[in-house]
Amino acid sequence: MRDLKGLILSGGKGTRLRPITHTSAKQLVPVANKPVLFYGIEAMAQAGIREVGIIIAPETGDEIQAAAGDGARFGLRLTYIVQDEPLGLAHAVLTAEEFLDDAPFVMYLGDNLLQGGIDDLVAAFRAGEPEALILLTPVLDPENYGVAELEDGKVVRLVEKPAAPKTNLALVGVYMFTPGIHAAARAIQPSGRGELEITDAIQHLVDGGRRVEPHVVRGWWKDTGRLDDILEANRLVLETIVTRVDGELVDSQIDGRVIVEAGARLERSTVRGPAIIGAGARLIDCYVGPYTAIAENCVVQNAEVEHSILLAGSSVRELAGRMESSLLGRNVRIGRTDRQPRAYRFMVGDNSEIGIL
Ligand code: DAU
Repeated sequence: MRDLKGLILSGGKGTRLRPITHTSAKQLVPVANKPVLFYGIEAMAQAGIREVGIIIAPETGDEIQAAAGDGARFGLRLTYIVQDEPLGLAHAVLTAEEFLDDAPFVMYLGDNLLQGGIDDLVAAFRAGEPEALILLTPVLDPENYGVAELEDGKVVRLVEKPAAPKTNLALVGVYMFTPGIHAAARAIQPSGRGELEITDAIQHLVDGGRRVEPHVVRGWWKDTGRLDDILEANRLVLETIVTRVDGELVDSQIDGRVIVEAGARLERSTVRGPAIIGAGARLIDCYVGPYTAIAENCVVQNAEVEHSILLAGSSVRELAGRMESSLLGRNVRIGRTDRQPRAYRFMVGDNSEIGIL
């Protein structure tokens, strides 16, 4: 088999993560202080893939390009491919056709996170040489995914987000294809939601008698499209960290596995891991509880924060109650005002959600 290329889909809209995605690409939301997208790029590098195309949208492409660069730091080469409109995963494949040429390739959805990388899958793909290899995993809410029906271990039907799923086997957002997928993507029609579905393109291969091999994923997998999923992905990745303290601890304590990046400073604070405190962050008279990721240059003062993600430059000050299960965007400020009249004061973007005690 020829060398595999990589294709990462980092376009689309990100409607379910608004307001965060009003101003930023959903693939750049950090999980344990690292953009989701980078996990996919690293998995490709680890599997020996050296040429990776990234599908970007016109609105968020620049930001993604600025974050991931030319790929050198991941040990591969990144080529950015603009998809003018998010017309579906199969449309994204067609948009990348020139880049992919007639190479077999791994396609990775940029908002997906797959534990354990893709080395085994790439090896299975190379060894078995099927037309396509898909990954499946049992889920509790199959209606939110592409769903597979198998017979005698073979794929017979794939349906995108069925109202009444026949099985609980969801399509994971990592796929391996041979160039035959291009003709299949050209042969299908847009779905009810107006997209060229990769699910339908794969079904076209199945209907044409091509070999589509299913693999059930053993480790965990997360599609980080929604808040709860982001928080869970954050938990799962933080579970794997090893303590490292490069920042400064002043009259402070860390319990369990905690990363404190260089330039971060803790004063009279306690951090109970697993948690990560980003470079330049300041924690003053506070408690940071398990499953929290605080990005660079955040400030937490006189407050308790747990099971939350703070993006760069945000601050949380003087809270009477503990903040938990929260996702703060960049440069968000949460604090107390003693000004009269005493009242809640909000300056909040569209589609925000606030819960108060
Ligand atoms: O996460 C797994 C699921 O991903 C599969 O089970 C489904 O079969 C598959 O269709 C897909 O469903 P989603 O509705 O979750 O896909 P989403 O629109 O979130 O797009 C996935 C990624 O691809 C995301 O990073 C955005 C990007 N994308 C999406 C579209 C529609 C593009 O780059 N271009 C596009 O046109």
